Amino acid sequence: MTLKYFSHSAFQITTDDGIKILIDPFLDNNPTSPVKSKDVKADYIILSHAHGDHLGDTFKIASKDTLIISVSELANYCIAKGFKAHNMHIGGSFDFPFGRVKFTIAHHGSKTPEGDYAGEPAGIILTLKNKSIYHTGDTGLFSDMKLIGEMNKIDYMLLPIGDNYTMGITDAVKAVELVNPKIAIPMHYNTFPVIKADPYEFKMKVENKGLKCKVLNYGEEIDL
Ligand code: NI
Ligand code: MN
Repeated sequence: MTLKYFSHSAFQITTDDGIKILIDPFLDNNPTSPVKSKDVKADYIILSHAHGDHLGDTFKIASKDTLIISVSELANYCIAKGFKAHNMHIGGSFDFPFGRVKFTIAHHGSKTPEGDYAGEPAGIILTLKNKSIYHTGDTGLFSDMKLIGEMNKIDYMLLPIGDNYTMGITDAVKAVELVNPKIAIPMHYNTFPVIKADPYEFKMKVENKGLKCKVLNYGEEIDL
């Protein structure tokens, strides 16, 4: 099983059975992504929320067989666009062929490209075989992260550090302390000037708390 980072909040997971799962595939208008929508395929696309830098190229990548997974309002928007989607909501989890998906709260907004309300933004907990990944989505720091960490043993926590729209480094370090994952992976930084942040400063500050951090390069793939 592998995890590949495309930059911003876009990741690809490939299971041992070859199932491809994309999270927040913002590629074509993403100046930092080494791949574009034509280069990727997905059996499943999981969306944290509808902002353009997360919904991204979902409708270019999704084929008739791709299942989009998101909160109901966003899933219904995808269905109205002619795609297959599975409606979920915050606090709920569901077993898919590749593993379990659970949506958590995230403190942020969510609108469709047309400006319509797209439901609440969410974080995503994926449990694949015996590994768990918590992609926080775009969010500010919140104390329930402690509960999320206690109720779900998190191996990999993917979290924003770019500030302005989300947590910056100081709050993100606190978020890692609250969740206590095996490894923290920073995301949502340096894509645009307004979210400039040094991932190695974040790594140093996480390690100073006795926790582990891995900075992924754009396009880097790791074994889970
Ligand atoms: Ni957003
Ligand atoms: Mn964003």
